[in-house]
Amino acid sequence: MKNKNSLFLSKKELLKEAGCDDYNESAKRLFSKAFGISLAQSYKYQTYEGSNENASLFSEMVSLRAVGVPTSHIVCSRSFWQNDFCVDGSVLDPRPESELIIDVSKNLLFDGMKVLDLGCGSGCIGLSLYKENSNITLFLADFSKKALSLSKKNAEELKADCEFIHSDLFSNIHNKFDLIVSNLPYVAKDDFCYLQREIILHEPHEALYGGRYGLDIIKLFLDGVNRHLNKNGIFVIEFGKEQDFLLKEELLRSNFNKICFYKDLNNVNRVVCVKKDT
Ligand SMILES: C[S@@+](CC[C@H](N)C(=O)[O-])C[C@H]1O[C@@H](n2cnc3c(N)ncnc32)[C@H](O)[C@@H]1O
Repeated sequence: MKNKNSLFLSKKELLKEAGCDDYNESAKRLFSKAFGISLAQSYKYQTYEGSNENASLFSEMVSLRAVGVPTSHIVCSRSFWQNDFCVDGSVLDPRPESELIIDVSKNLLFDGMKVLDLGCGSGCIGLSLYKENSNITLFLADFSKKALSLSKKNAEELKADCEFIHSDLFSNIHNKFDLIVSNLPYVAKDDFCYLQREIILHEPHEALYGGRYGLDIIKLFLDGVNRHLNKNGIFVIEFGKEQDFLLKEELLRSNFNKICFYKDLNNVNRVVCVKKDT
């Protein structure tokens, strides 16, 4: 067997040739999983003396990655905010831009606050807020039963005490909340075909597609959200690139006036925080 260093480099090269955009990061994550070392111990890529089983596992994982299976699905985990979340093909892979929702919301939390994460997927948003303040009362809702069961698994893993609601938007939600966070699907029809092949093949369409201009589901959310907010309640939602103008119109049409947009690391408006008027 080649030494680990050349095994690592040859597999990294294989991923590059297979057209894997994040070949370096993927090779490291797969190597660290197969050899049971932390990502931070990257010096071990050169020195680690693992068994042949570790090497075979690494090769199998690389083969899956080379045909487009997302790294997070191979290692069954994705980092988001301060924790790792179990993910699979039933949920959207948590994206770094969604961490902006946490950044905006975490300072709003107070003990006893009732918080809903609507369209929770893996539960990454609501559960990250819970880890910021475990004295909130958290509800996770999704219309996908598979997503809900994965979010339950993540909640157990993070020892989070929360309730789960199977609901199409607000149809099965009968409570009022102080804070509603949500990252609903917002990919517009014309943008869908430009998504990476990997995303189209391995992530659920119902977690992505937002209708002709991307705002169909968010508009339905806006129709119901006011009834589910307590006095002074707030909602914080993510939306797509260049949807801010249309979204602002929709917010004003729904009589929301206390609106604050936040930009992501690419200096693009990504998240809006809206306060109930009365
Ligand atoms: C963009 S994903 C976000 C998942 C997770 N919150 C995150 O940020 O990674 C959208 C989620 O909303 C859910 N969803 C889509 N339409 C819904 C609806 N009408 N009612 C409830 N959940 C919905 C999908 O199942 C999916 O889990």
